Amino acid sequence: MCGIVGYIGEKEATNVLLSGLRRLEYRGYDSAGISLTREDRLQVIKRSGKVAELSKAVHETFPGGETASRVGVAHTRWATHGPPTEANAHPHLDEGRRVALVHNGIIENYRHIRSHLEAKGHTFHSDTDSEVLAHLIGDYLDGDGDFLGAVCAALRKVEGTFGIAAICQDDPTKVIAARRGSPIVIGVGQNESIIASDAAAVISLTHQVVYLDDNDVAVVTPGSVDIRDLNNVPVNREISELEWSDTSAELGGYEHFMLKEIHEQPDSIRNAIRGRLDFDNGTAVLSGLGTTPREISEVQRAIIVGCGTSMNAGMVGEYAFENFADMPAEVEQAAEFRYRNPIIKATDLVIAISQSGETADTLAAVREAIQKGAWVSGLCNVVGSTIARETGRGIYLHAGPEISVASTKAFTCQVAVLLMVALKFGRCGRLSCERGQEIARAIEAIPELVERVLEKNDQIAREAERWAETQHAFFLGRGYQYPVALEGALKLKEISYIHAEGYPAAEMKHGPIALIAKQMPVVVIAPHDKLTYQKTLGNIEEVKAREGMVIAIA
Ligand code: M6R
Repeated sequence: MCGIVGYIGEKEATNVLLSGLRRLEYRGYDSAGISLTREDRLQVIKRSGKVAELSKAVHETFPGGETASRVGVAHTRWATHGPPTEANAHPHLDEGRRVALVHNGIIENYRHIRSHLEAKGHTFHSDTDSEVLAHLIGDYLDGDGDFLGAVCAALRKVEGTFGIAAICQDDPTKVIAARRGSPIVIGVGQNESIIASDAAAVISLTHQVVYLDDNDVAVVTPGSVDIRDLNNVPVNREISELEWSDTSAELGGYEHFMLKEIHEQPDSIRNAIRGRLDFDNGTAVLSGLGTTPREISEVQRAIIVGCGTSMNAGMVGEYAFENFADMPAEVEQAAEFRYRNPIIKATDLVIAISQSGETADTLAAVREAIQKGAWVSGLCNVVGSTIARETGRGIYLHAGPEISVASTKAFTCQVAVLLMVALKFGRCGRLSCERGQEIARAIEAIPELVERVLEKNDQIAREAERWAETQHAFFLGRGYQYPVALEGALKLKEISYIHAEGYPAAEMKHGPIALIAKQMPVVVIAPHDKLTYQKTLGNIEEVKAREGMVIAIA
């Protein structure tokens, strides 16, 4: 997951850029680089490995890290085109070494552009699609020397996605940023501006930010942002205020962000439900949806789209819609949804779920649903994100920044918000006030229940240690616990590199049970509810009969 930082202002650029990269380290990367304009020349330093290596190299090149440069761009790269070598690390330079570019996304037609430029005499030093874009900008710059014009012309030629920041040796008064399908946020401070792919890199400098829309190109100077479209026609984008506190993107004594965010859940869920439960009427107050009860009663079906963890949360929402609102509901993996020909009607409610609000497939699904005339609502965490803006009406999670790539608190807040949406729809339909009140009280109780689970931290850690050497694991659940099992398996894969599968517990006997052998850990989520508990006990017996090891969450 690549990260972009750009800076122009009064401070030593290397300090701002390196500290911005450190704030993006959580996203994972395998090389890093920085480029500065210095004495009218572009200086580039790159290293494979960690930002610490890059920082060391910068300090070796410039004692004390003092470069006297006030403008630059920097990047952390997660290898896609070519291995994580120094040559493939960003920034990339153009043929004339006048433009330095950092790029997130994929230039799909890079082979074609590369051959065209090679035929004109360009020599490439990396395997990346990004270097091709740097050369293309340089090629246009050779025409009339207009940096902005060259960036716009190059971006008009590329197919695919980009979030970029670029500097030019001949024009050190600006950084140019642009986006299509890959987020860019610009922080506007006092006599300084910072560009980043993620607001976490901006908040230490300023809370005043501008989010770029697709095909926006921004000319960024110290304290100003001038936005154009790809044809260089001015467009207007609002400045918004980042709600995050300065310390929200810091570890605050935790060993890593995932642990911090796991422990933040009671508070984040409280924030997600605060002021949104109406106990008298047994319903939820979700003004962001912007609908009357009458409009809600006209909705015939809910289609919930998302990816990964957000899709798993959506599945909990599907069950809640069916149970609370008596309404047909379906969950769709966003990429599958966008590339099929989904049958959507004007009476459908499409709910797009995304922590970041920037996931390309979910965004494309939103656009497809809007195009087809559905009522589309977004459940996002990042305020001002593209999905939040494009859906117009939606509900923020208020989970606070989720820095860890592995989603935790966003999942539980998504579930809490979906329960409230289903409750509201239920109350506009046949759900009784009394049942609505019960559900509202149950939702209100969630943070405290989470606190009680977190008190078992040490016990859970000891249990995890016992299983740390295992190669495979199963997660089983029924009903609402099935998506939870899927989410558990996703987390184990992502964090521990242990192969894990989530299944509806009843599905085990239809084949997967063949894999249950001696000592195979099977996590079974078995809450004591009326419908599923006894049946789940039966599934536990099946596992034990094959000498699998049951880890019951009960
Ligand atoms: O930002 P989004 O919720 O749209 O991201 C979608 C997925 O990439 C994300 O949920 C992913 O599966 C989790 N980070 C995994 O822990």
